[in-house]
Amino acid sequence: MTWEKMLRPHLSALEPYQPIVPLEVLAKEAGKTVAEVIKLDGNENPYGHSPRVNRAMAEYPFFHIYPDPDQRQLRQALEGYVGLGAEHIVVGAGSDEIIDLLLRLFLEPGDQVINLTPTFGMYPFSTHICGGEVVEVPRDEAFEIDLEEMRRKVRPRVKAVFVASPNNPSGNLATQEQVLGLLEMGLLVVVDEAYYEFAGETAIPLVKEHPNLVVLRTFSKWAGLAGLRVGYAMCHPGLVEHIMRIKPPYNLNVAAQVAALESLKDLEYLQARVRDIVEERERLYRLLQGLDSLHPFPSRANFILCSLKGWDAREAYLRLRGEGIFLRYFSNPRMSHCLRISVGKPEQSDAALAALNQAEKELAGRHK
Ligand SMILES: Cc1ncc(COP(=O)(O)O)c(C=O)c1O
Repeated sequence: MTWEKMLRPHLSALEPYQPIVPLEVLAKEAGKTVAEVIKLDGNENPYGHSPRVNRAMAEYPFFHIYPDPDQRQLRQALEGYVGLGAEHIVVGAGSDEIIDLLLRLFLEPGDQVINLTPTFGMYPFSTHICGGEVVEVPRDEAFEIDLEEMRRKVRPRVKAVFVASPNNPSGNLATQEQVLGLLEMGLLVVVDEAYYEFAGETAIPLVKEHPNLVVLRTFSKWAGLAGLRVGYAMCHPGLVEHIMRIKPPYNLNVAAQVAALESLKDLEYLQARVRDIVEERERLYRLLQGLDSLHPFPSRANFILCSLKGWDAREAYLRLRGEGIFLRYFSNPRMSHCLRISVGKPEQSDAALAALNQAEKELAGRHK
């Protein structure tokens, strides 16, 4: 077959991103209905979107018209929410799209991107798609960024570093000193605040003074719109223009725009759900501390990372999966003793805890 020979070599050998499994597939596998599945593997919002979104969608009359390529309405509506002018804002089909657009703009083949591992898998995935190389700078035992090692790794071909804050999967924040330290290195610094609403700390005030800073946000988590794909970047207006120029013109679809605009009109409701999730996170953390052979890491996001001592995380993951309870398991060696639990509704946490308790008794006991 000739088409295979024509594939771009760096893409034909690409390691695929490991996305989460769809709800219907999980339900079928566990022999449950979709409503019975306890899905705590995707850091999604267990309360879903604002009820006003349904109404706005039902009443919207212009789904047959292409969306505004300049995203004027949503960028303007975001001004009040983020405290920056629309000229600093650009919207993507999820922050995933913005990550890809940024790398397309900055990477020549062979350029490098620093990845502060363990962290969100889309950074290395998009780097490889854009022909770049990933340079790993592992975080320390407490998942803090190692600035000294960062400085040692900065070479002329290093173009960018991604800093998730709170970090996925560890849940800890980057400090302002760390972000400033990275900005001084002269790279493109992308602070990914996908979980900002659960943490309340932001690098946005630094955007105006630092043209090499990009802050990413999303409607996927706090606003429960993961399925509609709305993320946005905040950065220097010149960089916004470049992103605008290379993005697909209609990347923000009309349904997504309607839903995001309506969410911004229903902040009181959505912020109350965020408070519920934060409260549940703290309760779940205390309960997880009660397990003998499991260590939960403190989290500022809507998930909690746990390391298992003396029992196999994969075995525990598979056992819960068989019961229709889905947690996140990581196959890479550094994280293979860990599970990440998204914060769900209290009854979902209780079911996950009961199953973990049982699994701990049976699996950890074996090694004693
Ligand atoms: C750190 C981080 N950034 C970005 C995303 C993706 O956001 P979006 O749904 O807007 O593409 C996630 C999703 O899990 C994430 O954990």
